[in-house]
Amino acid sequence: MDGWRLRVVSVLICVYLLAGSAAKAQLAPAATKPFDLINWNGGKFIYGADYYPEAWPESLWEKDAIMMQEAGINFVRMGEFAWVKMEPQEGHFDFAWLDRALKVLNAHGIKAVLGTPTASPPAWLYAKYPDIAVMDANGVRYRYGSRRNYCLHNQEFRAATARIVSAMAKHYKDHPGVIGWQIDNELSDPKCYDPVSQAAFQAWCQRKYHTLDALNAAWGTIFWGHTYESWQEIPLPWNTLFNTYNPSLVLDFDRFQSDSTHDYLDFQTTILRKIAPHQAITENEMGMFQETNWYDLNRSLDFVAWDNYPMMYKDLTQYSVAGLAHDVMRGSKDNQNYMMMEEEGGVGGWATFIGHQSPAALYRVWDYQSVAHGADGICYFRWRTSRYGTEQYWEGILDQDSYRNSRYFMVQQTGKELQQLTPLLHGSSIVSPVALLNSPDSRWALQNQPGVDDFQYDQQLQDYYDAFRRGGVNVDVAFPPSDLSAYRIVVAPALYVSDQALVDKLNAYVMNGGTLILTFRSGVKDEHNVVTDRTLPGPFAGLAGVAIHEFDPQLNEEQEIVGLGETLFPTRCWSDILEPTTAKVLATYGKGYYAGNPALTENEVGKGRVYYVGTESKSPLFYDRLIALAARKSLVALNNKIPAGVEVSVRQRGGKKIIFVMNYTGTAQTVPLEQAYKNALTDKTEPMEVQIPAYDVKVLTE
Ligand code: GAL
Repeated sequence: MDGWRLRVVSVLICVYLLAGSAAKAQLAPAATKPFDLINWNGGKFIYGADYYPEAWPESLWEKDAIMMQEAGINFVRMGEFAWVKMEPQEGHFDFAWLDRALKVLNAHGIKAVLGTPTASPPAWLYAKYPDIAVMDANGVRYRYGSRRNYCLHNQEFRAATARIVSAMAKHYKDHPGVIGWQIDNELSDPKCYDPVSQAAFQAWCQRKYHTLDALNAAWGTIFWGHTYESWQEIPLPWNTLFNTYNPSLVLDFDRFQSDSTHDYLDFQTTILRKIAPHQAITENEMGMFQETNWYDLNRSLDFVAWDNYPMMYKDLTQYSVAGLAHDVMRGSKDNQNYMMMEEEGGVGGWATFIGHQSPAALYRVWDYQSVAHGADGICYFRWRTSRYGTEQYWEGILDQDSYRNSRYFMVQQTGKELQQLTPLLHGSSIVSPVALLNSPDSRWALQNQPGVDDFQYDQQLQDYYDAFRRGGVNVDVAFPPSDLSAYRIVVAPALYVSDQALVDKLNAYVMNGGTLILTFRSGVKDEHNVVTDRTLPGPFAGLAGVAIHEFDPQLNEEQEIVGLGETLFPTRCWSDILEPTTAKVLATYGKGYYAGNPALTENEVGKGRVYYVGTESKSPLFYDRLIALAARKSLVALNNKIPAGVEVSVRQRGGKKIIFVMNYTGTAQTVPLEQAYKNALTDKTEPMEVQIPAYDVKVLTE
């Protein structure tokens, strides 16, 4: 690096060091009292649509507002891509059009959350500051176009952000029709690999490790002689020969990216809280797309909101894929209720459609699924399909012709029902006997080094999640800082990276009577993504009562295991060959040179027990059997009569249950429950064997 560049980089490092510590000091403390979304919306269930008045003739706005009101809509999200319309030239603002749109909507009882428009900076900003755009791992800067093309570490972009966010906040801070803010749009990647980002990463490393000796030791930079003698030598995981990277550096880079995203969010929330302290702040997040650590990020928000598109799932009766994403989002703010900022309003795609069109009735079932998992508000993406741009195929409730189609009437019906149910729902929340541990560090580390090509961290979560859901059991998703003590069962799949605090927490949990399920690739790495020198499963070996001296990555081969009722289950992906130290064997491998060796064990330890699952099964029955065993021992009741494609999910208020029975299939179903309940919408008592038509929902109360 030449002299002037080095000086610039050093200055930037200082700025970033200061900025970083300042940002940390400004972090909002975790909310103690859950945010009440229904009170926030004046006692009404939030029911809305994402609306883009800037893209439609003003003469249409009144008609839109009337149609919205008739559909029961009382909320819109607006503005998140309208930066150029609000600031057509640097420092010149125009909010008159948005004022007029708000006036029309407010007159029809519709309130708004405004999106800060930073996901789509104006062309003039790129023309003036081309380095705002992201540089890819090859050192090539993307050119203008698309969206989310900004470098989180670029100071000109920060300045432009401060200007537009402050101007919006000042203009709308006392507006009675604006109840809150959405920061940006789906904050997350892309990662930027430019010199400014490199300097920011180096500063982040300096804050974390303090000395180069500590960093070199933590990352094991002695390997291939990659020891750093100065902070400025630390690279990014950009394109290297043979695409080789130090996994410790890569994991820290992922954490850095997540922290930078958080820092950028805080940069905006700090401005908004200062200028507009009475308006709530959220962000539209992305469920299973977890490039950002949602748990960290959400410390800075009043409540969680997220974007749900179940059409992306191949089989629409696979309700639990969306179910898991809902529970990840709820878990990311300690199980507080949340809202949907983009609930699927129609089939979608960009160049090609990515899903099948669903019957309108099924959209209603997904709405209820959101509510059943803790949503106290639903806002559809989008009011009307765009006539322009990349998303001409991404359907809103209405199509471009504004015709009152079947989805519109579905929205109307659902809205009416949700308002009727609001007194019952208000103040209720989700209580689950089971938690699934979602470890951002393990996820990121395994993305970089999956071990076998088809290893999917999400699949590990999903397999166990699905088994509990088939049994009608609510599941919370915990993150490493979550309190686990109240759960009867904790499943921690592929806990590849863990620190001592997490090991201690799981130890205490089991010793105090908890049931823990651990799976293959657990305890492999320390918090620096360095492989343990202890016998696997490393820090969990004592708890699990097993030692692993040999494993078999299943490269396109398939195994099988025998056990849990002497059944044969096909397995795949990985085989840990277990040697019990104190555990008892529940299943053994069926094939190959290690046939007969243990694959699944149970260890009674302290007041609790640990199951260690050495492989992944292709058979849902395997998970059902294992979960049934763990549930029996942990006194968790399962309902094994729920038909496939039907979900039973429960909210609770004051110990009383609100049961949602949701049929995602195209045929009528019978769902036996443990007692007869009252239908909350009709007030009539339902039989114990609940009859539920195709694509329909019943909400039951005690
Ligand atoms: C979301 C995004 C929306 C819209 C939608 C459909 O991820 O937040 O702005 O783009 O997808 O593509």
